[in-house]
Amino acid sequence: MPSILAPSLLAGDHAGLAASAAQVAAVGLHWLHLDIMDGHFVPNLSFGPETLAALRRAEKENARSHTSPTSELQVNESKTFFDTHLMLSEPQRYLKAFAAAGADLISIHIEPDYDHASALAEIRSLGCQCGIVLNPDTPAEAVRHLLADVDLVLVMTVQPGFGGQSFRPAMLEKLKTLDGWRRENGWQWRLEVDGGIGLSEASACRAAGADTFVAGTAFFKAPDLAAFARSVESL
Ligand code: DX5
Ligand code: ZN
Repeated sequence: MPSILAPSLLAGDHAGLAASAAQVAAVGLHWLHLDIMDGHFVPNLSFGPETLAALRRAEKENARSHTSPTSELQVNESKTFFDTHLMLSEPQRYLKAFAAAGADLISIHIEPDYDHASALAEIRSLGCQCGIVLNPDTPAEAVRHLLADVDLVLVMTVQPGFGGQSFRPAMLEKLKTLDGWRRENGWQWRLEVDGGIGLSEASACRAAGADTFVAGTAFFKAPDLAAFARSVESL
């Protein structure tokens, strides 16, 4: 499976998120990672569905201004894949809002107590891809029963809530376990890592089976965004 880099907008400019999203698209990347926090499941707040909807509008405007006024085809081709990571205690209450706002994939955590299987099915019924997320202290076994029905598994490589933390190397074993199950069962989901990912961490995670790399700080602070993107996507 080819490597994908999904820059996390959390590390972008919060007074100009559309401009930060445009930087991602400008270096040829198709995925954008959107971190949604509720101040309850994680001790921080970020943004909500209105922000996604506004980013979608800005993206369309941006595409129109770079193409002829009638060229809808090119406008659609430029659509960024919104990889939406819900760090919420009650994600099931917000699925419709994020789908309507333009999410392409919605990932929900296994740790809070709600009906995970129903929520994943609802995400699919809303026309989005679905993902299940594990915190660093959550073992791979906790999501084993859901793995036949997901499009992505997200392994947190830091405790979620804040950008700029250090990668936890102990998560490499969890990646190997999940990748092993994926191979044994012929599953096709993507295996994503999130937290403290720079080029060397992405490379170690790739060797352990990951194929999708979230990077906030390492992307937006890179001296050459295009070079960083090319390096990660060629892993
Ligand atoms: C952490 C978020 C991450 C975060 C990653 O709670 O889920 O997506 O933005 O940021 P870096 O890459 O700076 O660790
Ligand atoms: Zn995230």
